[in-house]
Amino acid sequence: MHASQAMNTVTVISSISDWVKLRKQFDAKKTIGFVPTMGNLHQGHQSLCEKARQENDLTIISIFVNPTQFNNRDDFTNYPKSFDKDIALANKVGINYILAPNYTDLYADNYAYKITETDLSCLMEGQHRPGHFAGVLTVVMKLFMLVRPTKAYFGEKDWQQMQLIKNMTKAFHCDLDIVSCPTIRDKNGLALSSRNSRLSEEQYQVAINFPKLLASNKTPAEIKQLLEQAGMAVDYIEEFAERRFGAVKIGQIRLIDNVEMKQCLLQF
Ligand code: PAJ
Repeated sequence: MHASQAMNTVTVISSISDWVKLRKQFDAKKTIGFVPTMGNLHQGHQSLCEKARQENDLTIISIFVNPTQFNNRDDFTNYPKSFDKDIALANKVGINYILAPNYTDLYADNYAYKITETDLSCLMEGQHRPGHFAGVLTVVMKLFMLVRPTKAYFGEKDWQQMQLIKNMTKAFHCDLDIVSCPTIRDKNGLALSSRNSRLSEEQYQVAINFPKLLASNKTPAEIKQLLEQAGMAVDYIEEFAERRFGAVKIGQIRLIDNVEMKQCLLQF
């Protein structure tokens, strides 16, 4: 292989001890952009990776379907996986390393230690998915410790997650910046999500009403009613921090989204 080819090829590392050795060799002057993911990468993830690539000398992503953040066993087992496609996307974007650890290495303590937050994590997603944010915050902190990034990139699609991670880095005096990236949507306005691939065509037609109603000029109670009429089960529609948040279920598939209140003007 030519040196130039080797430079363009992403390196996949699954052993944490290999990763730790490699990380020690990084030039301290180089900035590191980090994008944590659960794989099954789509254009939403891609936009974070591109931003990280533009703003840093080295770009690292992690792929780890984190069991501790799933409060539903089936959701964890059915979480879509596409590792080969993910590697191709990482190569296309110019990612340098994919960290893809296994559970036993990453959770050598078997989740005896966890990070819990007692305020924002109790609302909305936290209220409807007990233990979810403790799982997220714990895995993200483990990954931050391993990668030691200059900047880490998170999507506004999971605004509550992003905000909790921002607050966590402040609480623990972590020396890194959290960069928030806009939600990427498909042509019908549906926020891209790995779970969308599980929707049938019929369910997809139902799902596209969700972003439209969320961004409408109706009240949360009216939106809930209209979503139910359209065929969705509603976990919550809530307004918080100048944004409107929602979570719905179509069959077994759960979707979340949020929009800025100033954009909630659509007539429905
Ligand atoms: P995952 O769902 O794979 O998402 C990884 C990152 O991509 C998150 O920051 C998420 O907000 C962002 N993202 C997903 N869909 C997006 C879209 N349509 N537009 C913009 N950004 C989008 O979020 C997780 O994984 C996990 O909870 C994780 C942070 C990796 C911890 O396990």
